Amino acid sequence: MCLKWCPGGLKHNRVKLHKKDMNIEYYKTIASYYDIICKDLDFDLDFYKSEKVYGKNVLELTSGTGRVSIPLLEAGAKLTCIDISPEMLKILKEKITQHKYSAEVICEDVTKISLYQKFELAILPFHSFMELLGENKQLCTLSRIYRALVPGGRFLCPIHNPTVRKDSVNGCLHSIGVYSLEDGLLHVSGFEQGGHPTVDRFRFYEKFDKSGKLNSKHIVKMKFELISKDSFEEMANRVGFKIKNIYGDYERNSYSDSQSPFIIWDLVKS
Ligand SMILES: C[S@@+](CC[C@H](N)C(=O)[O-])C[C@H]1O[C@@H](n2cnc3c(N)ncnc32)[C@H](O)[C@@H]1O
Repeated sequence: MCLKWCPGGLKHNRVKLHKKDMNIEYYKTIASYYDIICKDLDFDLDFYKSEKVYGKNVLELTSGTGRVSIPLLEAGAKLTCIDISPEMLKILKEKITQHKYSAEVICEDVTKISLYQKFELAILPFHSFMELLGENKQLCTLSRIYRALVPGGRFLCPIHNPTVRKDSVNGCLHSIGVYSLEDGLLHVSGFEQGGHPTVDRFRFYEKFDKSGKLNSKHIVKMKFELISKDSFEEMANRVGFKIKNIYGDYERNSYSDSQSPFIIWDLVKS
């Protein structure tokens, strides 16, 4: 069943978010739930680990709570993690300490990074490049990553294939999942609308106690952008990257415009 969201519903709940801080607020609100929701999300880990990261200087952009960082540290990468959200990074730092790993963790906007150290590999996992809204921010980020690489260094940047992804940007409310908490259950649902190219994502986080009584409800909103292959390619070329490969999925199958779920860019600093 598809429930269309009525815009009046949001007004009724008095959601007021300032456009500028919307994505930062989103991660601030959901940081404590993030690992619960992403517990079994490992679809891309082998892809990054197969880069033979042992002993390599790796720059991980938008690292969040370390879903990818911890496996990379485990595989012996010398890791620098960057993320704009202090709340997400607090959790990452706790995990690094807990595992007795060592990594540089920097709270910074990826559109503004300027790093002294140079890296052999940079990654920006989980399609989060799409959270950088507008060509200006996307170009700034690509150019700063280019500068942070050694000559011959690579940048792996997966994004969604907009041709396929746009089908789920349909305003239909659906359940994301139900997760066990120590004191009850968390139910996450949501919908997405727009997509020309900015998508508005609404998520509902509802906590129930063990008797099924609703304890709390958060409505959070964030934005991301559907980025066309041509537009990404043009920006990557403009900052000096050469395209080494374009994969359509994390098994490194070749990209098909009509069918691939992802566009995974493997770029080289020439
Ligand atoms: C979907 S989460 C991905 C986290 C992690 N990479 C993973 O795979 O689980 C997106 C992350 O991007 C971060 N982010 C979004 N915009 C950013 C920006 N401009 N600069 C740095 N981090 C940003 C958010 O704070 C959030 O932690």
